[in-house]
Amino acid sequence: MNSELRIAVLGVGRMGADHVQRITRTISGARVAVVNDYVTERAREIADTVPGARVVEDPIDAIADPEVDAVVLATPGPTHEKQLLACLEHGKPVMCEKPLTTSVETSLEVVRAEAATGKKLIQVGFMRRFDREYEQLKALLDSGDLGRALVVHCAHRNPEVPPHFDSAMIVRDSLVHEVDVARFLLDEEITKIQIIAPSANPAAPEGLRDPQIAIFTTESGRHVDAEVFVTTGIAYEVRTEVVAERGSAMIGLDVGLVRTSAPGVRGGTITPGFVERFGQAYDVEIQRWVDAVHAGAETGNYVDGPGAWDGYAAAAVCEAGVLSLESGEPVAVDMVARADISGA
Ligand SMILES: NC(=O)c1ccc[n+]([C@@H]2O[C@H](COP(=O)([O-])OP(=O)(O)OC[C@H]3O[C@@H](n4cnc5c(N)ncnc54)[C@H](O)[C@@H]3O)[C@@H](O)[C@H]2O)c1
Repeated sequence: MNSELRIAVLGVGRMGADHVQRITRTISGARVAVVNDYVTERAREIADTVPGARVVEDPIDAIADPEVDAVVLATPGPTHEKQLLACLEHGKPVMCEKPLTTSVETSLEVVRAEAATGKKLIQVGFMRRFDREYEQLKALLDSGDLGRALVVHCAHRNPEVPPHFDSAMIVRDSLVHEVDVARFLLDEEITKIQIIAPSANPAAPEGLRDPQIAIFTTESGRHVDAEVFVTTGIAYEVRTEVVAERGSAMIGLDVGLVRTSAPGVRGGTITPGFVERFGQAYDVEIQRWVDAVHAGAETGNYVDGPGAWDGYAAAAVCEAGVLSLESGEPVAVDMVARADISGA
Protein backbone atom coordinates (compact mmCIF):
# COMPACT_ATOMS: atom_id res chain seq x y z
CA MET A 1 0.00 0.00 0.00
CA ASN A 2 1.10 3.54 -0.83
CA SER A 3 2.62 5.37 2.16
CA GLU A 4 -0.14 7.94 1.86
CA LEU A 5 -3.52 6.27 1.64
CA ARG A 6 -5.26 7.24 -1.62
CA ILE A 7 -8.94 7.61 -0.83
CA ALA A 8 -11.96 7.75 -3.13
CA VAL A 9 -14.85 9.72 -1.63
CA LEU A 10 -18.19 8.73 -3.13
CA GLY A 11 -21.08 11.17 -2.65
CA VAL A 12 -19.95 14.68 -1.86
CA GLY A 13 -23.11 16.19 -0.40
CA ARG A 14 -23.21 17.39 3.20
CA MET A 15 -21.19 14.57 4.78
CA GLY A 16 -18.94 13.68 1.86
CA ALA A 17 -17.81 17.25 1.22
CA ASP A 18 -17.07 17.61 4.93
CA HIS A 19 -15.00 14.39 4.88
CA VAL A 20 -13.05 15.60 1.81
CA GLN A 21 -12.06 18.77 3.67
CA ARG A 22 -11.25 16.79 6.80
CA ILE A 23 -9.02 14.29 4.96
CA THR A 24 -7.29 17.14 3.11
CA ARG A 25 -6.76 19.50 6.06
CA THR A 26 -6.78 17.50 9.27
CA ILE A 27 -6.06 13.82 8.73
CA SER A 28 -2.50 12.53 8.41
CA GLY A 29 -1.43 9.58 6.28
CA ALA A 30 -4.16 9.96 3.66
CA ARG A 31 -5.26 12.13 0.77
CA VAL A 32 -8.33 12.33 -1.44
CA ALA A 33 -7.29 10.88 -4.79
CA VAL A 34 -10.69 10.40 -6.42
CA VAL A 35 -14.03 12.14 -6.05
CA ASN A 36 -17.31 10.72 -7.33
CA ASP A 37 -20.86 12.00 -7.17
CA TYR A 38 -24.07 11.22 -9.01
CA VAL A 39 -23.92 14.89 -10.01
CA THR A 40 -20.61 15.08 -11.87
CA GLU A 41 -20.53 18.88 -11.73
CA ARG A 42 -20.65 18.66 -7.94
CA ALA A 43 -17.80 16.14 -7.92
CA ARG A 44 -15.75 18.49 -10.12
CA GLU A 45 -16.39 21.45 -7.85
CA ILE A 46 -15.17 19.49 -4.83
CA ALA A 47 -12.21 17.84 -6.62
CA ASP A 48 -11.04 21.30 -7.71
CA THR A 49 -10.51 22.21 -4.05
CA VAL A 50 -8.09 19.30 -3.50
CA PRO A 51 -4.63 19.26 -5.10
CA GLY A 52 -4.09 16.04 -7.06
CA ALA A 53 -7.70 14.83 -6.87
CA ARG A 54 -9.54 13.73 -9.99
CA VAL A 55 -13.15 12.88 -10.80
CA VAL A 56 -14.22 9.37 -11.75
CA GLU A 57 -17.77 9.46 -13.08
CA ASP A 58 -18.92 5.94 -12.29
CA PRO A 59 -18.98 4.94 -8.58
CA ILE A 60 -17.98 1.32 -9.23
CA ASP A 61 -15.09 2.45 -11.46
CA ALA A 62 -14.02 4.80 -8.65
CA ILE A 63 -13.94 1.87 -6.20
CA ALA A 64 -12.06 -0.39 -8.65
CA ASP A 65 -9.55 2.29 -9.64
CA PRO A 66 -6.01 0.90 -9.22
CA GLU A 67 -4.90 4.22 -7.74
CA VAL A 68 -7.47 4.00 -4.94
CA ASP A 69 -6.47 2.21 -1.70
CA ALA A 70 -9.62 2.82 0.35
CA VAL A 71 -13.10 4.28 0.04
CA VAL A 72 -15.31 6.67 2.00
CA LEU A 73 -18.99 6.09 1.16
CA ALA A 74 -21.09 9.14 1.83
CA THR A 75 -23.76 8.39 -0.73
CA PRO A 76 -27.43 7.96 0.28
CA GLY A 77 -28.29 4.73 2.13
CA PRO A 78 -30.10 2.99 -0.78
CA THR A 79 -26.88 2.98 -2.84
CA HIS A 80 -24.69 1.48 -0.09
CA GLU A 81 -25.37 -2.21 -0.70
CA LYS A 82 -24.09 -2.26 -4.28
CA GLN A 83 -21.13 -0.01 -3.50
CA LEU A 84 -20.16 -1.99 -0.37
CA LEU A 85 -20.27 -5.28 -2.28
CA ALA A 86 -18.03 -3.69 -4.93
CA CYS A 87 -15.57 -2.63 -2.21
CA LEU A 88 -15.49 -6.21 -0.90
CA GLU A 89 -15.08 -7.63 -4.40
CA HIS A 90 -12.08 -5.36 -5.03
CA GLY A 91 -10.67 -5.86 -1.51
CA LYS A 92 -10.93 -2.12 -0.71
CA PRO A 93 -11.34 -1.07 2.93
CA VAL A 94 -14.34 1.22 3.29
CA MET A 95 -15.67 3.74 5.79
CA CYS A 96 -19.41 3.68 5.14
CA GLU A 97 -21.62 6.40 6.55
CA LYS A 98 -24.60 4.93 8.36
CA PRO A 99 -26.84 3.14 7.48
CA LEU A 100 -24.94 0.04 6.37
CA THR A 101 -27.82 -0.63 3.96
CA THR A 102 -31.52 0.19 4.10
CA SER A 103 -32.88 -3.30 4.89
CA VAL A 104 -32.06 -6.03 7.36
CA GLU A 105 -31.77 -8.64 4.61
CA THR A 106 -29.24 -6.68 2.56
CA SER A 107 -27.30 -5.72 5.70
CA LEU A 108 -27.00 -9.38 6.58
CA GLU A 109 -25.90 -10.15 3.03
CA VAL A 110 -23.13 -7.57 3.40
CA VAL A 111 -22.08 -9.02 6.78
CA ARG A 112 -21.87 -12.48 5.21
CA ALA A 113 -20.00 -11.23 2.13
CA GLU A 114 -17.44 -9.51 4.36
CA ALA A 115 -17.04 -12.62 6.53
CA ALA A 116 -16.37 -14.64 3.35
CA THR A 117 -13.36 -12.42 2.56
CA GLY A 118 -11.73 -13.46 5.86
CA LYS A 119 -10.94 -9.78 6.51
CA LYS A 120 -12.59 -6.89 8.29
CA LEU A 121 -12.97 -4.32 5.52
CA ILE A 122 -16.09 -2.36 6.49
CA GLN A 123 -16.29 0.35 9.13
CA VAL A 124 -19.65 2.02 9.74
CA GLY A 125 -19.93 5.72 10.56
CA PHE A 126 -21.44 5.59 14.02
CA MET A 127 -19.30 8.55 15.00
CA ARG A 128 -20.61 9.02 18.53
CA ARG A 129 -18.30 6.23 19.67
CA PHE A 130 -15.41 8.64 18.92
CA ASP A 131 -16.89 11.65 20.70
CA ARG A 132 -14.81 12.65 23.73
CA GLU A 133 -17.80 12.64 26.10
CA TYR A 134 -19.14 9.27 24.93
CA GLU A 135 -15.61 7.86 25.31
CA GLN A 136 -15.49 9.20 28.87
CA LEU A 137 -18.89 7.74 29.70
CA LYS A 138 -17.92 4.36 28.25
CA ALA A 139 -14.61 4.39 30.18
CA LEU A 140 -16.47 5.22 33.39
CA LEU A 141 -18.91 2.33 32.88
CA ASP A 142 -16.10 -0.07 32.00
CA SER A 143 -14.12 1.00 35.08
CA GLY A 144 -16.86 -0.43 37.30
CA ASP A 145 -16.90 2.66 39.57
CA LEU A 146 -20.65 3.09 39.12
CA GLY A 147 -21.39 -0.61 39.30
CA ARG A 148 -23.65 -2.10 36.67
CA ALA A 149 -25.59 0.26 34.41
CA LEU A 150 -29.32 -0.32 34.84
CA VAL A 151 -31.13 2.35 32.85
CA VAL A 152 -30.14 4.69 30.00
CA HIS A 153 -32.07 7.86 29.12
CA CYS A 154 -31.36 9.51 25.77
CA ALA A 155 -32.56 12.70 24.10
CA HIS A 156 -31.87 13.48 20.45
CA ARG A 157 -33.23 16.78 19.15
CA ASN A 158 -32.69 18.40 15.77
CA PRO A 159 -33.78 21.91 14.89
CA GLU A 160 -35.14 20.70 11.55
CA VAL A 161 -34.94 17.93 8.96
CA PRO A 162 -35.11 17.97 5.14
CA PRO A 163 -38.63 18.05 3.63
CA HIS A 164 -38.46 14.41 2.44
CA PHE A 165 -38.00 13.13 6.03
CA ASP A 166 -40.89 10.85 7.05
CA SER A 167 -41.84 9.16 10.33
CA ALA A 168 -39.93 5.94 9.55
CA MET A 169 -36.81 7.99 8.72
CA ILE A 170 -36.88 9.38 12.26
CA VAL A 171 -36.34 5.76 13.34
CA ARG A 172 -33.86 4.69 10.66
CA ASP A 173 -31.82 7.91 10.37
CA SER A 174 -32.03 9.56 13.78
CA LEU A 175 -32.92 6.94 16.40
CA VAL A 176 -30.35 4.62 14.79
CA HIS A 177 -27.63 6.61 16.60
CA GLU A 178 -29.30 5.92 19.98
CA VAL A 179 -29.50 2.25 19.01
CA ASP A 180 -25.76 2.18 18.43
CA VAL A 181 -25.03 4.20 21.58
CA ALA A 182 -27.08 1.76 23.68
CA ARG A 183 -25.31 -1.28 22.19
CA PHE A 184 -21.92 0.45 22.63
CA LEU A 185 -22.45 1.55 26.24
CA LEU A 186 -24.14 -1.61 27.48
CA ASP A 187 -22.17 -4.12 25.39
CA GLU A 188 -25.16 -6.25 24.53
CA GLU A 189 -27.82 -6.58 21.87
CA ILE A 190 -31.27 -5.00 21.95
CA THR A 191 -33.97 -7.65 21.84
CA LYS A 192 -37.20 -5.62 21.94
CA ILE A 193 -38.31 -2.13 20.96
CA GLN A 194 -41.47 -0.11 21.37
CA ILE A 195 -42.06 3.30 19.84
CA ILE A 196 -44.73 5.62 21.12
CA ALA A 197 -45.71 8.72 19.16
CA PRO A 198 -47.42 11.26 21.42
CA SER A 199 -49.24 14.36 20.10
CA ALA A 200 -47.21 15.72 17.20
CA ASN A 201 -45.43 19.04 17.30
CA PRO A 202 -47.81 21.49 15.56
CA ALA A 203 -44.76 22.96 13.80
CA ALA A 204 -43.84 19.57 12.26
CA PRO A 205 -44.80 18.98 8.61
CA GLU A 206 -48.29 17.48 8.15
CA GLY A 207 -48.26 13.75 8.95
CA LEU A 208 -44.80 13.63 10.55
CA ARG A 209 -44.97 11.71 13.83
CA ASP A 210 -42.58 13.87 15.78
CA PRO A 211 -41.56 13.58 18.62
CA GLN A 212 -41.22 9.83 19.14
CA ILE A 213 -40.35 7.97 22.34
CA ALA A 214 -38.50 4.67 21.93
CA ILE A 215 -38.07 2.04 24.62
CA PHE A 216 -35.45 -0.67 24.15
CA THR A 217 -35.03 -3.83 26.19
CA THR A 218 -31.62 -5.48 26.09
CA GLU A 219 -30.68 -9.17 26.21
CA SER A 220 -30.17 -9.08 29.98
CA GLY A 221 -33.36 -7.05 30.53
CA ARG A 222 -31.91 -3.57 30.90
CA HIS A 223 -34.01 -0.53 29.89
CA VAL A 224 -33.16 2.32 27.51
CA ASP A 225 -35.51 5.14 26.60
CA ALA A 226 -34.92 7.70 23.91
CA GLU A 227 -36.81 10.82 22.98
CA VAL A 228 -36.24 11.75 19.35
CA PHE A 229 -37.62 15.12 18.32
CA VAL A 230 -36.42 16.41 14.97
CA THR A 231 -38.39 19.63 14.42
CA THR A 232 -37.65 21.60 17.59
CA GLY A 233 -36.67 24.73 15.67
CA ILE A 234 -34.07 25.39 18.37
CA ALA A 235 -30.73 23.59 18.12
CA TYR A 236 -29.02 20.20 17.97
CA GLU A 237 -29.16 18.53 21.38
CA VAL A 238 -27.88 15.04 22.12
CA ARG A 239 -27.86 13.92 25.73
CA THR A 240 -27.31 10.56 27.37
CA GLU A 241 -27.71 9.72 31.03
CA VAL A 242 -26.81 6.36 32.53
CA VAL A 243 -28.25 5.32 35.88
CA ALA A 244 -26.20 2.62 37.54
CA GLU A 245 -26.05 0.67 40.80
CA ARG A 246 -23.85 3.25 42.54
CA GLY A 247 -24.64 6.54 40.84
CA SER A 248 -25.42 8.14 37.52
CA ALA A 249 -23.55 9.99 34.80
CA MET A 250 -24.67 12.35 32.07
CA ILE A 251 -23.11 13.71 28.91
CA GLY A 252 -24.21 16.17 26.26
CA LEU A 253 -25.10 19.33 28.14
CA ASP A 254 -22.94 20.97 25.47
CA VAL A 255 -23.39 24.49 26.76
CA GLY A 256 -19.75 25.59 26.46
CA LEU A 257 -18.96 28.74 28.39
CA VAL A 258 -21.67 29.76 30.83
CA ARG A 259 -22.07 33.54 31.06
CA THR A 260 -24.51 36.23 31.96
CA SER A 261 -25.91 37.93 28.89
CA ALA A 262 -28.64 40.20 30.21
CA PRO A 263 -29.99 41.16 33.62
CA GLY A 264 -31.24 37.98 35.26
CA VAL A 265 -30.07 35.70 32.42
CA ARG A 266 -27.22 33.22 32.61
CA GLY A 267 -26.48 30.51 30.06
CA GLY A 268 -24.33 29.02 27.36
CA THR A 269 -24.75 28.19 23.72
CA ILE A 270 -25.83 24.99 21.96
CA THR A 271 -24.41 23.69 18.68
CA PRO A 272 -26.76 24.28 15.73
CA GLY A 273 -26.19 20.93 14.00
CA PHE A 274 -24.37 17.59 14.02
CA VAL A 275 -21.41 18.87 12.01
CA GLU A 276 -20.53 21.26 14.85
CA ARG A 277 -21.53 18.98 17.75
CA PHE A 278 -19.65 15.96 16.44
CA GLY A 279 -16.84 17.63 14.46
CA GLN A 280 -14.21 16.32 16.88
CA ALA A 281 -15.73 12.82 16.71
CA TYR A 282 -15.65 12.78 12.88
CA ASP A 283 -11.97 13.83 12.96
CA VAL A 284 -11.03 11.03 15.36
CA GLU A 285 -13.21 8.51 13.52
CA ILE A 286 -11.53 9.14 10.16
CA GLN A 287 -8.00 9.37 11.60
CA ARG A 288 -8.38 6.08 13.46
CA TRP A 289 -9.87 4.44 10.36
CA VAL A 290 -6.93 5.66 8.22
CA ASP A 291 -4.48 4.30 10.81
CA ALA A 292 -6.35 0.98 10.91
CA VAL A 293 -6.27 0.70 7.12
CA HIS A 294 -2.49 1.27 7.17
CA ALA A 295 -2.13 -1.47 9.79
CA GLY A 296 -4.63 -3.79 8.07
CA ALA A 297 -2.21 -5.17 5.50
CA GLU A 298 -0.51 -7.03 8.40
CA THR A 299 -3.58 -8.02 10.38
CA GLY A 300 -6.43 -8.32 7.87
CA ASN A 301 -8.38 -5.95 10.13
CA TYR A 302 -8.94 -2.62 8.39
CA VAL A 303 -11.44 -1.37 11.00
CA ASP A 304 -11.10 0.52 14.28
CA GLY A 305 -14.61 1.03 15.56
CA PRO A 306 -18.08 -0.14 14.60
CA GLY A 307 -18.12 -2.67 11.78
CA ALA A 308 -20.59 -4.38 9.47
CA TRP A 309 -22.12 -6.39 12.33
CA ASP A 310 -22.96 -3.17 14.19
CA GLY A 311 -24.59 -1.82 11.03
CA TYR A 312 -26.65 -5.00 10.70
CA ALA A 313 -27.70 -5.01 14.39
CA ALA A 314 -28.79 -1.37 14.14
CA ALA A 315 -30.79 -2.13 10.98
CA ALA A 316 -32.54 -5.04 12.71
CA VAL A 317 -33.52 -2.89 15.70
CA CYS A 318 -34.74 -0.06 13.46
CA GLU A 319 -36.77 -2.48 11.34
CA ALA A 320 -38.57 -3.65 14.48
CA GLY A 321 -38.87 0.00 15.52
CA VAL A 322 -40.70 0.95 12.34
CA LEU A 323 -43.13 -1.95 12.87
CA SER A 324 -43.71 -0.78 16.43
CA LEU A 325 -44.28 2.79 15.25
CA GLU A 326 -47.10 1.44 13.07
CA SER A 327 -48.70 -0.77 15.72
CA GLY A 328 -47.74 1.04 18.94
CA GLU A 329 -46.89 -2.39 20.40
CA PRO A 330 -43.48 -3.72 21.50
CA VAL A 331 -41.80 -5.71 18.71
CA ALA A 332 -39.13 -8.38 19.18
CA VAL A 333 -35.91 -7.77 17.22
CA ASP A 334 -35.33 -10.49 14.65
CA MET A 335 -31.58 -11.12 14.27
CA VAL A 336 -29.34 -14.04 13.48
CA ALA A 337 -26.86 -14.97 16.20
CA ARG A 338 -23.42 -13.49 15.71
CA ALA A 339 -21.82 -16.86 16.39
CA ASP A 340 -23.62 -18.22 13.32
CA ILE A 341 -21.55 -15.98 11.06
CA SER A 342 -17.94 -17.02 11.18
CA GLY A 343 -15.66 -14.01 11.14
CA ALA A 344 -18.35 -11.40 11.94
N1 LIG B 1 -22.86 10.10 10.81
C1 LIG B 1 -23.64 11.16 10.72
O1 LIG B 1 -23.72 11.92 11.64
C2 LIG B 1 -24.38 11.45 9.46
C3 LIG B 1 -24.98 12.70 9.30
C4 LIG B 1 -25.64 12.96 8.10
C5 LIG B 1 -25.71 12.01 7.11
N2 LIG B 1 -25.12 10.80 7.32
C6 LIG B 1 -25.16 9.75 6.28
O2 LIG B 1 -24.28 10.13 5.23
C7 LIG B 1 -24.79 9.72 3.98
C8 LIG B 1 -24.92 10.95 3.08
O3 LIG B 1 -25.80 11.88 3.69
P1 LIG B 1 -25.77 13.43 3.32
O4 LIG B 1 -26.56 14.11 4.37
O5 LIG B 1 -24.39 13.88 3.05
O6 LIG B 1 -26.62 13.40 1.94
P2 LIG B 1 -26.57 14.43 0.75
O7 LIG B 1 -27.85 14.22 0.01
O8 LIG B 1 -26.22 15.79 1.22
O9 LIG B 1 -25.37 13.92 -0.17
C9 LIG B 1 -25.40 12.72 -0.88
C10 LIG B 1 -24.57 12.91 -2.16
O10 LIG B 1 -24.48 11.65 -2.84
C11 LIG B 1 -24.72 11.85 -4.22
N3 LIG B 1 -25.20 10.57 -4.79
C12 LIG B 1 -26.48 10.11 -4.83
N4 LIG B 1 -26.51 8.86 -5.38
C13 LIG B 1 -25.21 8.55 -5.67
C14 LIG B 1 -24.59 7.41 -6.25
N5 LIG B 1 -25.30 6.32 -6.63
N6 LIG B 1 -23.23 7.43 -6.42
C15 LIG B 1 -22.52 8.51 -6.07
N7 LIG B 1 -23.06 9.63 -5.51
C16 LIG B 1 -24.39 9.64 -5.30
C17 LIG B 1 -25.70 12.99 -4.29
O11 LIG B 1 -25.65 13.64 -5.56
C18 LIG B 1 -25.21 13.89 -3.15
O12 LIG B 1 -24.25 14.83 -3.57
C19 LIG B 1 -26.12 9.02 4.26
O13 LIG B 1 -25.91 7.65 4.34
C20 LIG B 1 -26.53 9.59 5.62
O14 LIG B 1 -27.34 8.72 6.37
C21 LIG B 1 -24.45 10.51 8.45
